[in-house]
Amino acid sequence: MNKFLILASVFTVVVLLGAYKVFAQQKVEDKVEVSDNSKILVAYYSYSGNTKEVAEAIHKKVGGTLFEIKTEGSYPEEYRPMTVQAQKEIKDGYRPKLLTKVDDISQYDIVFLGSPNWWGTITPQVSSFLESYNLSGKKVIPFITHGGGGVQNTVKDMTIQCKGCQVVDGAWVGYGSRTLGVSGWLDDLGLGK
Ligand SMILES: Cc1cc2nc3c(=O)[nH]c(=O)nc-3n(C[C@H](O)[C@H](O)[C@H](O)COP(=O)(O)O)c2cc1C
Repeated sequence: MNKFLILASVFTVVVLLGAYKVFAQQKVEDKVEVSDNSKILVAYYSYSGNTKEVAEAIHKKVGGTLFEIKTEGSYPEEYRPMTVQAQKEIKDGYRPKLLTKVDDISQYDIVFLGSPNWWGTITPQVSSFLESYNLSGKKVIPFITHGGGGVQNTVKDMTIQCKGCQVVDGAWVGYGSRTLGVSGWLDDLGLGK
């Protein structure tokens, strides 16, 4: 084999491994124990619609209550200034006021919580949600959508900010609005119906 072929093969393997890391679903390590009485909340924030699509796919399979986190504040229409503002908000620890409210959070045993990956972490809107509701003792299942960076610090930061809750090991981490695989992921969690 000539040098070029060897280099090309090594390059292909490295690219495929990188793609696998970004696009592969995290392995589910936990099974969620559910009883017939378990109540499920599927809460999410979505700026451009991807996380909403995943939330709807989850909700379609597991039922329960679908809840969109909406807050005060707005962003510039142009993408670049929008991302700059979001970056500053994250750096400053900004917590926008919630405009939508969950009716009696205490009734839920299982909470799916969805966020886009913004600058490697969860969005300020999701942080506001986490700081406003007591999720202590509940099973929290993160679902993250991203633009190619993968999970980065999203699940770690959600876990830190979710005081006293049991964050399930095996979040959904999907590129964009990908929902292919959501159903199998829910089955792996023990939540398939
Ligand atoms: C402000 C901002 C920051 C972003 N930062 C990242 C990032 O650090 N890593 C990444 O993979 N994707 C990043 N993205 C892409 C989004 O995570 C991705 O498009 C996501 O699916 C959007 O979800 P949504 O349509 O529900 O808002 C960013 C998008 C925005 C708007």
